[in-house]
Amino acid sequence: MKERRACIIGNWKMHGSAQMIRTFFAEFFAALASHPAALSGIEWVICPPFVYLPHILENLHQLNNLTHTVSGSLGAQNTYSEATGAFTGEVAPEMLRDIGCQWVIVGHSERRTLFYEDNTRIARKFLAAYDAGLFPVLCVGETRAERETGKTWEVIQRQLEAVFAIAPIESLTTAVIAYEPVWAIGTGLTATPEQAEAVHLAIRDWIAKRDPCLAATARLLYGGSVKADNAAGLFAMPNIDGALVGGASIIAQEFFDIVKSAKARI
Ligand code: 13P
Repeated sequence: MKERRACIIGNWKMHGSAQMIRTFFAEFFAALASHPAALSGIEWVICPPFVYLPHILENLHQLNNLTHTVSGSLGAQNTYSEATGAFTGEVAPEMLRDIGCQWVIVGHSERRTLFYEDNTRIARKFLAAYDAGLFPVLCVGETRAERETGKTWEVIQRQLEAVFAIAPIESLTTAVIAYEPVWAIGTGLTATPEQAEAVHLAIRDWIAKRDPCLAATARLLYGGSVKADNAAGLFAMPNIDGALVGGASIIAQEFFDIVKSAKARI
């Protein structure tokens, strides 16, 4: 048994509907019924748009009750850095906890670019989420231009330093880091297992300089065009502890197969 439990997180982005969720869980359950032990020991999470959080939670409860072995949990795609107040349109980490949400994605490249979230804003969101008892999923990653000009590590280091300048490094006991190269997101261009592993190793070394014990247990996920047919190759890498999955996570059989392929890490 590896000391780091595999973790697969589905980021549905702005996709889904009440009907789609019914169909998704019917198909997910059917996949599970034919392979009842396939997901045992693997942690998996679904992060739908805010309005569907209660729908997903209800379905996860039903699934977990029916199977007893499955450990699916709920995550949000975003949160705010304050607990309450006049912040029209925002959702506090405490509110997410209140409705049964355990995880939250912070610093996704789509938030960084489309919604102008900078490292300072992301750091404050991370800390607020952690303080509220959520498990943050901190996304870091370089653009194609940054990779091509040899700036990959410089960019990722800056993203990490901004967060851990204000958040305790011990937050990585529950928080996970997701390396998502921007050029691999939604493009079908997955980083090779070796490219991803090299960055994961650098992130683990960065953590080790701050806390050697934590470096051994902190979970590092890869994201960017992860599919059922490339997941196993990624999960075979020593420092890739799971995945943050976009497009493939809204297709029940595909998501099931990705989670199942993390079994090799157990
Ligand atoms: P894709 O898997 O669709 O490339 O998206 C990755 C991602 O952004 C997950 O957060």
